Amino acid sequence: MKRRRWWRVVALVAVVPAAGFVGLWIAGPQPVSFGPYVQNVTTTSAEVCCFDEVPSRVRVRVALPEGGERVVDAAQRTQTHRLAITGLRPAQRYRYTILDGDGVVARYAGEFSTAPLDAGRSFSFAAVGDSGDVPAWFHLHRFGWGRMRGLLRHAGQTRQWQIAEWIAAKRPDFFVHLGDVIYTHEQLAGYREAFFAPFRSVLEQCPLVANFGNHDMHTWARPEFFTLFAGGKQLEPKQGYRDWSFTFTWGSVRFLVLDAFWQKWEADSAMRGWLEMTLLNNRHPRVVAILNFPPFSDEGGVHEMPVVQQQLWPILARRKVDLVLCGDSHNYQRFKPIDGVTLVIAGTGGKSLRPIKPTARLAKHAEAFGFLLVKVTGRRIEGEFWTGKSEPLDRFVLE
Ligand SMILES: [Fe+2]
Repeated sequence: MKRRRWWRVVALVAVVPAAGFVGLWIAGPQPVSFGPYVQNVTTTSAEVCCFDEVPSRVRVRVALPEGGERVVDAAQRTQTHRLAITGLRPAQRYRYTILDGDGVVARYAGEFSTAPLDAGRSFSFAAVGDSGDVPAWFHLHRFGWGRMRGLLRHAGQTRQWQIAEWIAAKRPDFFVHLGDVIYTHEQLAGYREAFFAPFRSVLEQCPLVANFGNHDMHTWARPEFFTLFAGGKQLEPKQGYRDWSFTFTWGSVRFLVLDAFWQKWEADSAMRGWLEMTLLNNRHPRVVAILNFPPFSDEGGVHEMPVVQQQLWPILARRKVDLVLCGDSHNYQRFKPIDGVTLVIAGTGGKSLRPIKPTARLAKHAEAFGFLLVKVTGRRIEGEFWTGKSEPLDRFVLE
């Protein structure tokens, strides 16, 4: 009798989950969708974004601080929703809701601030790279993972959720990703699991500026990174990605988001000319460059990219860029100024940690997960590396 009961328990434990999996497998994977995120924010405009694998229509409703609301409808059914909101006021906080095309069902909600017009106004941003690990059972998404992840979302992926919480708690004006947003060949589901799910708390409260890393290029023929973050540019594989680099302005700082992967920055290249002219004509008090591959790294020299070191770095140094932020090395490294430029590597977003072999050129280093918080007031730039403790692990000031 006892023996029979035992077998019943075994049958129940084995058969019920198996039946569940079969059911989910028959139902098939859910279409991938994720959001919200806000990009390309200026003093008067922003793009509110989300993604649907099955083309759909969306509507964005923005509450105006002066009263009333602005409603923007997508022109057509599409996958990447990128709705431009214009006519906004500088340094103003806006709340938005993304609804279905009929404006009935609210799908996402979030907030963002527009860039300030006044160069003296203080702001902050968070920066980190190399976050994009997927949970151990990521590939179950083929078998209905999307339905189960609500229950299991923290398991196997704790670090990214944790770092996102740390960033969200600091309420930065925007969030800069230094590259390697994901590490998987299955990019769409990968971006959902490795980035949009764990970083939702950040993406709901501030705009995103993303640069790409080598791992975002896993599917060479069609890297989804450019579909999601290219700002509507029509880019052709392999050659077209070369015009990725762009700039934006926030307060006193001109930001350069640079491709340190495809672009070789040769002396006669168009992009080098563009960069030289951009820096030559710059009238902003400070310049911060954002790239993935670092020109220098004390991670055993493995991650020093000759092209970046020999072609790109001399331009940045000669034109007196103030701060260069990189990822790729999975650790934190702040260098003493090299050629007058401060270089910080923060590839500490949660993928893994790698050992540093520190040389005398490092001012501070750490093998710890965390993110860089940069506070700007006029010409003053203050950086802090936060690891979840009550005090930052590193602090530096550029006066
Ligand atoms: Fe990486």
